[in-house]
Amino acid sequence: MTTRHTLKFLLNDQLIETNDVLATETLLDFLRLNQTLRGTKEGCAEGDCGACTVLVGRLAGDELTYESVNSCIRFVGSLDGCHVITIEHLKGKDGAPHPIQQAMVEHHGSQCGFCTPGFVMSLYAMWMSEFEPDVATIERYLQGNLCRCTGYEPIIKAARDIGAHGKLHEDYLIAERDQIIEQLSNLQDDQMLEVESGSEMFYAPATLDQFAMLYAKNPKATIVAGSTDVGLWVTKFMRDISPVIFTSRLNDFRKIKVTDDAIIVYGGASYTDMLATIDNYLPQLSQFWRRIGGEQVRNMGTVGGNIANGSPIGDTPPPLIALKATITLRKANERRTIELEKYFVAYGKQDRAQGEFVEQIHIPLPPDDQIFATYKISKRRDEDISAVCGAFSAKIEDGRIADIRIAFGGMAATPKRATHVEQALIGAPWSERSILDAKPSFADDYAPLSDWRASADYRLAVTQNLLERFYLEHADENAFSLDELHQAATLEALS
Ligand code: FES
Ligand code: FES
Repeated sequence: MTTRHTLKFLLNDQLIETNDVLATETLLDFLRLNQTLRGTKEGCAEGDCGACTVLVGRLAGDELTYESVNSCIRFVGSLDGCHVITIEHLKGKDGAPHPIQQAMVEHHGSQCGFCTPGFVMSLYAMWMSEFEPDVATIERYLQGNLCRCTGYEPIIKAARDIGAHGKLHEDYLIAERDQIIEQLSNLQDDQMLEVESGSEMFYAPATLDQFAMLYAKNPKATIVAGSTDVGLWVTKFMRDISPVIFTSRLNDFRKIKVTDDAIIVYGGASYTDMLATIDNYLPQLSQFWRRIGGEQVRNMGTVGGNIANGSPIGDTPPPLIALKATITLRKANERRTIELEKYFVAYGKQDRAQGEFVEQIHIPLPPDDQIFATYKISKRRDEDISAVCGAFSAKIEDGRIADIRIAFGGMAATPKRATHVEQALIGAPWSERSILDAKPSFADDYAPLSDWRASADYRLAVTQNLLERFYLEHADENAFSLDELHQAATLEALS
């Protein structure tokens, strides 16, 4: 294996080659301070407002995909071999505004203008894949953009009208796609990228095997995949995270395979990478999946990272635990597989040895007779962190609960099953009475904290109500309603 010491990527139509970049340098700072491209704005510096949105194009084989990302929490070192597009690069025919910009002008989609470049870039990402979007699609692409002035309506109207102002095939990224692919192909290699700058150091391995060996040798390094969490360690907590290993070049770490009975996801797959598989094989999670972060966060964040960092309020562990998922941890060439729920040992403590990383997640596909649902409770519908996230998976046989697994995030120091409630339900009739009788057992499973997202009492009440909701959404002709049970009890008493 050979090593390269120069980071290379395309920025608009310019090739950037540099070894003068810190491991913690954000793309936003690089654009504004180093390149004086100040159209991209800084609002929150934590991936919430979308003012800093740019597009990043990535090659996988000969497929080139552009996605919106939050440049405030994306590190420059993760961009090797990519194509970054900023607002400065948008143009229409003969010096006119780009069709998206023209639509924004005509529909008064900009007032103070601070959020506008971010909105335009998010709409640009949408336009390239959804030429005639409906309102739901527009809202999804704009989930990660905040505007304090317009009330959004003019922006949505503009989004629906882009096609009236230009043709997609005339757009630079489409018209010159082949040349861009060729330029990007020339930047791909299988060399380890290693850059030392100031007191910081980062690596960007080219293959999963390189990554596994490197991390085993440097177990104190910080692995950065989507940086939707680690980005904040830097921008909000000024934490020293060097040396860093970026996984962004590892196409073989983003694989998703589907077998007869399971989905196997590699740890570097983003939420967006998984969306089509979720829609096809786990449609019960489709809506929930679209409420994880906003579009930019889903484009960046990885399922492996969501698990690996062990947060008690991560969105993916509750449904995965309810589905009996397992994970494969890898150190160099050694692998071991454990149940996901056992990975979370205590707050801030996971069953992960030094040099080990989450290589794969195995998600069993629920058979047709298994009912399954996940609910996210947060203050805002979009782009918010869960106050409580609960997942339920149950098997009903002959009107009785043959098996049930319930897992919650936001209720304890780790994502955790409600085993007392499960025990109260297994074997009981699939009925409102059983559900009501089991509800108090949540207090034996969880002693939640009060924080600014929710009080302890609210959290406990929510777990109980979600169980009831799960029942009501899945009650069928085999189930007994409370009325039926009352009638049966009355008849029994009368007989
Ligand atoms: Fe707010 Fe980046 S500055 S998301
Ligand atoms: Fe002012 Fe959106 S136009 S924040």
